[in-house]
Amino acid sequence: MNIKDSITTITKFYKEQEEKGKRGAAHGFTHMARVALAANRFAKFENAGDDLRKASLLTGFLHDLVRFPREVEGLSDGVLTAMLIKEVGEEKTEVVKEIVETLDEDVRDALKSIKQALKDMALLHAVSRVIEINEGSLSKIFEELTHESREVQLIGSALAYGDKGEEGVGENVVVRRAMFVSGERVDKGDLKEFSRNVLVHMLQLKEGIGSYTLLPFKEDMLKEMYARTSAFVGESLIRIYAKKSTKDFPDHPLWQSLKARREFELDFFFSALAFVGSLTRDVCRESIIELQKDLTELYTSLGFPKMAKFKEKILSNISNGRIIEYSPERVALSIHQLAVGDLLSTGDKRLDSLAYLSDESILLNQLLNNI
Ligand SMILES: [Fe+2]
Repeated sequence: MNIKDSITTITKFYKEQEEKGKRGAAHGFTHMARVALAANRFAKFENAGDDLRKASLLTGFLHDLVRFPREVEGLSDGVLTAMLIKEVGEEKTEVVKEIVETLDEDVRDALKSIKQALKDMALLHAVSRVIEINEGSLSKIFEELTHESREVQLIGSALAYGDKGEEGVGENVVVRRAMFVSGERVDKGDLKEFSRNVLVHMLQLKEGIGSYTLLPFKEDMLKEMYARTSAFVGESLIRIYAKKSTKDFPDHPLWQSLKARREFELDFFFSALAFVGSLTRDVCRESIIELQKDLTELYTSLGFPKMAKFKEKILSNISNGRIIEYSPERVALSIHQLAVGDLLSTGDKRLDSLAYLSDESILLNQLLNNI
């Protein structure tokens, strides 16, 4: 199988997994393709040689390949993906054997041919290492990359830019966060418990939901919107102020250009916060520092994952003066609609155009033209 056919085969595999519910939309084909193309752009910008550029594209295309149930203790999906790419065709470990058994023959062949191509470029180990490193906060990733070879540094920076930069900041991540955090994680992941806790807490407060009873939503839907939007707020708090703080953006022109996109993400976040806290825009804007201090405490006590770990960093990065342009109710409704997969009906032009921009055949063509 040649490399173009391999990409087409794996594209089909991603889409089938999405249809069967084995792969969430936030880690579906469009995410993989956009990360691959952004990594390719980064490598070009850096004037990397052709092999490094192609390897960057392939790394982006494969970086979330394994979406394995979390039962495998201590091995994250990234580590498992790195192992699979290195071992496919000569499975050495039980867990990789187990994963390979779930794959159809043509997908195995496609992976084997990509592995061979990377081997021929002497970049197989670099690619596998990059995927292993690409987890956690930006500062941790960039710190780890400094100890690596020139190849790992280039491909690693390209992947981080695609996955944590273009896909992790601004409009793209608003959509993906709504799908993954407010969708999958609330419905069947680690935020199920938190969502229950937050609703109990809200009812205890008595006010909260009371001020929204005039909205044209049935109470059940309102509760669901509240749970999903609360999850969105918590994860945004961690991502914007700790894991992907603009302070940790590398001093690189492509990264610096992403700062403008953070503005949209912030506006969306503050509107969601106003909804969750039943606040007016003015109150939200004026007391944001206090609000976020309270919020990190509250979310920690309600069991929001990793809030305790990132609390200090969040508080050291908070700034005030944010103007909220979006209506909080509108934003909460958008989050809800995106979370349940109702992509094109949010009524928000920027989000809707993003959904259209995810045209799968255009993305596949761009991938094939660049490899
Ligand atoms: Fe990713």
